[in-house]
Amino acid sequence: MSRTFFVGGNWKMNGSVEQYRSLIKHLVEAKLDEKAEVVISPPALYLLPSKELVANSPIELSAQNAYFKPSGAFTGEISVAQLKDAGIPWVILGHSERRSIFGESDELIAEKTKAALEAGLKVILCVGETLEQREKNESIDVVIRQLETATKGLSSWDNIVIAYEPVWAIGTGKVATEAQAQEVHAAIREWLGKAVDSQTASSVRIIYGGSVAAKNSRQLAEQKDIDGFLVGGASLKPEFVDIVNSRL
Ligand code: PGA
Repeated sequence: MSRTFFVGGNWKMNGSVEQYRSLIKHLVEAKLDEKAEVVISPPALYLLPSKELVANSPIELSAQNAYFKPSGAFTGEISVAQLKDAGIPWVILGHSERRSIFGESDELIAEKTKAALEAGLKVILCVGETLEQREKNESIDVVIRQLETATKGLSSWDNIVIAYEPVWAIGTGKVATEAQAQEVHAAIREWLGKAVDSQTASSVRIIYGGSVAAKNSRQLAEQKDIDGFLVGGASLKPEFVDIVNSRL
């Protein structure tokens, strides 16, 4: 398998000046799998000062959201162009908390994805079904529909990582089983093969998110189509290092 293992740490709206400094210090000093790509996503406020702290390490930074317009009267927003200008290479888009709490539609996520890629950013694109949808056996349909809309007309998949994050598993401690995650990841890869091409299907990273912890990450990481993780709660703890090192 030639896809580089990818671990993202989504801090969400957590942390303080003191905490972000100590979390990054811990990570920079830790022994991390050299073959893994590690991207952390502190709140926007801490992105620029974090840049200096990760400067001499392989750790990269991501924003948790961005707006698609380059500039203008959009109070409270940060644009993809501003992230690019500030040297922040990644952005998380379509996270279920953005969808459910802030009402982001598939169409808005599509606009953001297009703008982010055009601006030269790399995107962690999140998709996932609710518990109700899973119980109705709709998981794969929902995820493919979200992907189809968010990536319509996309010319290149080089700068996209897909994060499968079942909503019922996020922050609940109820991690998907290896089989449940693998099934959806395989379906996404199959869809990529049909909708795009086989080269894209075999090269795009599909990562899993939802209650990933040191105690479950190794088994998940062994699955054929699981290329890494997007980690929320555990990315604020020392065990994040063990999750990064799941394949060691
Ligand atoms: P969790 O969050 O690891 O706390 O479940 C994952 C995410 O929302 O990306």
